[in-house]
Amino acid sequence: MCGIVGYVGSSEAAPILLDGLSKLEYRGYDSAGIAVFDGENIKIEKTPGRLNALVEMTHDGKLLPGHMGIGHTRWATHGKATVENAHPHYNPSMTIAVVHNGIIENYMELRAKMERKGFAFRSETDTEVVAMMLDYYNTGDPVETIIKVMHRVEGSYALGIMFKELPGKMFAARKNSPLIVGKGTDGNYIASDVPAILKYTRDVYYIKDEEIAEITEDGISFFNIDAEEIEEELHTIEWDTNSADKGGYEFYMMKEMMEQPEVIRNTLNPHIVKGDIVFDELKISDEDLRGISRIHIAACGSAYHAGITGKYVIEGMARIPVEVDLASEFRYRNPILDKNAVLICVSQSGETADTLEAMRVASRAGVPTWSIVNAQGSTMTRESDVTIYTNAGPEISVATTKAYSAQIAVFYLLAMKFADAKGLLSAEDKKSYIDDLKRLPEQVEMLLNNKERIQKFANRYVSARDVFFIGRGLDYAIALEASLKLKEISYLHAEAYAAGELKHGTISLIENNTLVTALVTQDELYDKMISNVVEVKSRGAFVMAVTSVGHTDIEEHADYVLYVPETNKYFTNSLAIIPLQLFAYYVSAGKGYDVDHPRNLAKSVTVE
Ligand code: AGP
Repeated sequence: MCGIVGYVGSSEAAPILLDGLSKLEYRGYDSAGIAVFDGENIKIEKTPGRLNALVEMTHDGKLLPGHMGIGHTRWATHGKATVENAHPHYNPSMTIAVVHNGIIENYMELRAKMERKGFAFRSETDTEVVAMMLDYYNTGDPVETIIKVMHRVEGSYALGIMFKELPGKMFAARKNSPLIVGKGTDGNYIASDVPAILKYTRDVYYIKDEEIAEITEDGISFFNIDAEEIEEELHTIEWDTNSADKGGYEFYMMKEMMEQPEVIRNTLNPHIVKGDIVFDELKISDEDLRGISRIHIAACGSAYHAGITGKYVIEGMARIPVEVDLASEFRYRNPILDKNAVLICVSQSGETADTLEAMRVASRAGVPTWSIVNAQGSTMTRESDVTIYTNAGPEISVATTKAYSAQIAVFYLLAMKFADAKGLLSAEDKKSYIDDLKRLPEQVEMLLNNKERIQKFANRYVSARDVFFIGRGLDYAIALEASLKLKEISYLHAEAYAAGELKHGTISLIENNTLVTALVTQDELYDKMISNVVEVKSRGAFVMAVTSVGHTDIEEHADYVLYVPETNKYFTNSLAIIPLQLFAYYVSAGKGYDVDHPRNLAKSVTVE
């Protein structure tokens, strides 16, 4: 997903742009560029490859003097990573420069129209069309000009724009793609995400869809699609700057894994008040909770796996039917939505296109939408009826760990809230569950402190070909997440399977020394899982088992056992995932990969 940074103020713009783009590298990209207005002309430098190449070719930005500029890291969607396709894009006379995040869905039609008007294109991108249209429709009034283009463009866009004739004025506009405006002391900023400008300001505005911002050194104005000036609310970001840096770790992923005890604590504590589970943000009575007949959950990737955990714990505790869908499926399958249902969308970024569209499907059907989101002020938080924040702080590594752990913690609390409202949670159980929840952070910490043992084991698997993760019930949810973690950062083929399904086909793939990780934390399924372990062992598999302390008899069957502390059967996912996150991390690091920036992946997929 692309990254945008812009600045106008009393300082040199280029170094600020380059620094801001470096904080957005986590979003995934394959080219970078900046445009700076030097008081007379717009100068542009851009290059395929890593941001360092741009830093070097611009001598840390010194070759582009000027106090206003826009910068971009591009994750290729239309056209390869080349100089021509890199942003910023510009009109033929270089009087207009544009950076863009999103997809212009009707760009071919618009490009043909601009070509008929005599515009010659240099790139294969959709974005270049915007630069040409701003030129063609330029009325001299920048807001009016931008609105003319917005009316003709279909799809998603976050835009940063400069006009040569308007020195000291930068513009931004957005639709279905994140963009914030930062209010600074020596100038003002635009950015795709908070980390890019957190070093300079904590005071930000969230531009809403189909709004335009006009930004100068001393002021920020907002306009709606009818060119009417509007007010926007200023927000203060609470994150500490340190949270957005590596904190001494080699990769953000390790830092973020190590933050999980605190993140789980910070996510749980606001909802446990005087021995009760509290969700003020739901703005719903217990009676209304009891009236919810069905819960739909829609999400992507790891957030989807958190939803699977949510299904098992909510159905287990509260006996409410829960349907979990991949958001990209939910949005197109014409789901049957009861009027008494609720849709819960789960998303770290709050900007995932498929999950946003799934939410809109429910909204259009009149179904209440709740979101479980980490990124403050993200689109999902503004469009859902209710937002429950995970308090994980900025998550930079593409592979989610702490945000995922926070998401499943929220589902434990929601399950307890629903069960309590339905009178299915005795006072005794409520107290013991809360005690177990409060113990989770220290138990996670203990598992993290055991990471060297995992590292030794992982080193044996850097050249593995196939890895299987099997489990039943809640353990199946963890198998799914552990498998994705390994695949996405180590590029090993891994597959998660419901253990009971093995004999229906997949077991034919088990050969000598195939690594099978068996999740065995659910006591009532323990014997079943042991028989699955025996099944794969008899076909030559090497079995790593993850089970709760005390089940030492498993050592008669498994080749390698990872023990996790005892906890409530509903909460074991928070513990079992820890050694498997570490396993994926060490396999990837052992292969010499950039753990935080896996190939082909972006931190948030804001396009379909
Ligand atoms: C998880 O490690 C991946 N980065 C990916 O599957 C991610 O969970 C998915 O893209 C959903 O992102 P979101 O939580 O920001 O919506």
